[in-house]
Amino acid sequence: MSTSQKVDILLLGAGGREHAILAKLAESPRAGKLYVAPGNGGMYGLATKVELDAEDPVAVAGWAREHAIGLVVIGPEAPLVAGVADAVRSAGIPCFGPNGEAAQMEGSKKFAKQVMARAGVPTAAYRSFTDEDECAAYVRQVGGPIVVKADGLAAGKGVIVAQTTEEALEGVHECFGGTFGDAGATVVVEEMMEGPECSLLALTDGKTLVSLATSQDHKRALDGDRGPNTGGMGVYSPVPMVTDEELATMVDIEKRVVAELAAEGITYSGCLYGGFMLTKDGPKVLEFNARFGDPETQVVLPRMKADLVDVFLACDDGTLDAGDVRWDDDWAVSVVLTSAGYPGSYEKGKVITGIEDAEAMDGVTVYHAGTRLDDEGRVLTNGGRVLDVTAVAPTFEKARELAYAACQKIDFDGKTYRSDIGLRCIQGR
Ligand code: AMP
Ligand code: GLY
Repeated sequence: MSTSQKVDILLLGAGGREHAILAKLAESPRAGKLYVAPGNGGMYGLATKVELDAEDPVAVAGWAREHAIGLVVIGPEAPLVAGVADAVRSAGIPCFGPNGEAAQMEGSKKFAKQVMARAGVPTAAYRSFTDEDECAAYVRQVGGPIVVKADGLAAGKGVIVAQTTEEALEGVHECFGGTFGDAGATVVVEEMMEGPECSLLALTDGKTLVSLATSQDHKRALDGDRGPNTGGMGVYSPVPMVTDEELATMVDIEKRVVAELAAEGITYSGCLYGGFMLTKDGPKVLEFNARFGDPETQVVLPRMKADLVDVFLACDDGTLDAGDVRWDDDWAVSVVLTSAGYPGSYEKGKVITGIEDAEAMDGVTVYHAGTRLDDEGRVLTNGGRVLDVTAVAPTFEKARELAYAACQKIDFDGKTYRSDIGLRCIQGR
């Protein structure tokens, strides 16, 4: 598959995930000119910023054709669900990321649950509702603890893990009341599962599936897994508590889902993200996402030995091979620096200092998430999750120590982070 021909690449997205993808693409000898829409303050040294609505399929495909782009890489879920990959492929341009129909694995929890049922994949028992009274009656009948989810995309916030029936009923009311917009018009009620969580990202061309290294996100805002759910506060890879048997089960589950979709006429190509709970009855699926995880990507890609341009093109043209991806033996830990107040309201525009000092440390990379550059080239905060301070080292302890030492070097008004990222890895299950 490997040729020496260079390809110009357009990457869509603006988070730490996209910065990590861009850095890995830039390492490839096959990377030609790199473009990003819209990108963030850390990405413009590697790629040219493009003014483009990344969620508009016609605009993306048109721009890519005009600029002779040889690969479009879609980072976030919204353009996938909007059908950007379909439009790019229809224009004859290779694309990394599933078409809109396949992206329903993330875009609709109901769709994903139905595919899982047909594929015989273990997941929480569920019912879905479009009527608030029926939904509330069911919740009263089953009782807490129980989980209530808005069906559509809600940026990780449309999930209420309710310990009591009252909490669950409030969640039902919140979903139907419009808190999550259209995403709440259908509500899924799920059995509550218990156990540690593990993310398993996999690359697939719709036939072959190559799983990437395991990782564990920390979704809650505060130390000790307290506080509200966020987009992710920190992550490490690999996850030593996962047994070989559990890993084999998770890979098998992902293969079955891709095969089930293929049997139904849907080619799933791109990254399939399985969110698993390691229950006492084995791994069960919490959710699927149709893209790389954020912040999981920031610890998975640095450890991956592969030419990402080749691999992404192989996912698109159906020539993915298990031998394309290998791993180094190091450990990676990433701590997310957030703006005070996140995931609630927070201020933007604070000057960030010390990123170069942090990156001068051996093994440390700082991926930008919510940042932008001002006219003088200073880096300013521009979002809730600001930076992913990532360290790679030969032992877990060393990687964790390095990541936290690097966090100390960086400063901005309102800098906030969890101090216990990866502690569970040391403490075990
Ligand atoms: P989701 O976006 O569906 O992955 O849910 C976000 C988080 O809510 C998950 O990472 C879990 O921590 C929790 N959660 C979701 N569904 C369940 C469930 N059925 N049982 C227990 N916890 C859940
Ligand atoms: N880390 C959670 C996600 O990417 O959805």
